[in-house]
Amino acid sequence: MGIVGIDPGGSAVKLYDGKQFRQFPSAIGYDWRERNILQQHGDHDYDWAYEGRRGFAGTLALHESQMADSLKGDSKAHPEARLRVLIALHQYASGPEHDIVVGQPVGTHTRNQKELIKKMLIGEHEMTINGRRRVITINRCEVAAEGVSAGLLAGAKGTVRVIDIGSGTVNYGTLLDGRYKDLESFTLVTGMDTRRNLDLDSFARQIAAYAVNKGWSNRDTVHLCGGGAEPIQRELAKYFGSAQLLKAGMSEFANVDAFYRIAKGLYANEKN
Ligand SMILES: Nc1ncnc2c1ncn2[C@@H]1O[C@H](COP(=O)(O)OP(=O)(O)OP(=O)(O)O)[C@@H](O)[C@H]1O
Ligand SMILES: [Mg+2]
Repeated sequence: MGIVGIDPGGSAVKLYDGKQFRQFPSAIGYDWRERNILQQHGDHDYDWAYEGRRGFAGTLALHESQMADSLKGDSKAHPEARLRVLIALHQYASGPEHDIVVGQPVGTHTRNQKELIKKMLIGEHEMTINGRRRVITINRCEVAAEGVSAGLLAGAKGTVRVIDIGSGTVNYGTLLDGRYKDLESFTLVTGMDTRRNLDLDSFARQIAAYAVNKGWSNRDTVHLCGGGAEPIQRELAKYFGSAQLLKAGMSEFANVDAFYRIAKGLYANEKN
């Protein structure tokens, strides 16, 4: 039985099983076609088949799908997110059965959305990638809140603030002595890839203004994660003097690291 954390982000799918951090582009195309030229495009060329549909994913979709896209937004209760999770398990998880924790933005981390995600993931799935068929069984699945969960990595007492700057969302999280504080955790539905011209300074100002509006103080210790954390840290430090990286050099993996820790806490001691 494998315990796995999976963060099916709008830009990249991240997986952590306690040993290795993995990621691949979230792009998925449903317009499968026979290819005459079989050039390799990257390390994540996936020709997938699932439930009667077939298409390309990862680096193959980025290069060869006409309509490759990756849904960005404030919910992951959609079939595309299921494909992302299943591709991750197919490629990188060992064994046929899994207990997983996946992520959902704080703003839509509701009972209803969580149930939808669990319902679409728990059970047996048959998927073929690049001709290799696997039956993937998800026995247990829980849905963690993005951003605020990553705050667990800070391991600090008192108030911990986290800003998770992703491709399509910015998640704000507040923890008090290791416990989530719903009141001061929320999601801004914009990100590093949703703007026509990314001006880091104005984006940092928008991120900070939203936090201050919701009651954060610019004297708070703020931890940054997500792929946008490192490029924007300097600009954000103008507004939050103490802004620091939660997982320097691996900012995009902070959420999935936390999801794995949560999964261990939930599943490791349970008797099957
Ligand atoms: N050096 C960089 N400069 C600019 N942008 C960067 C850099 N490194 C990463 N990014 C951006 O970070 C984003 C990926 O971050 P991350 O993996 O946290 O997003 P995600 O989790 O897939 O998205 P979301 O959380 O919104 O679902 C991409 O939009 C990418 O363009
Ligand atoms: Mg993310």
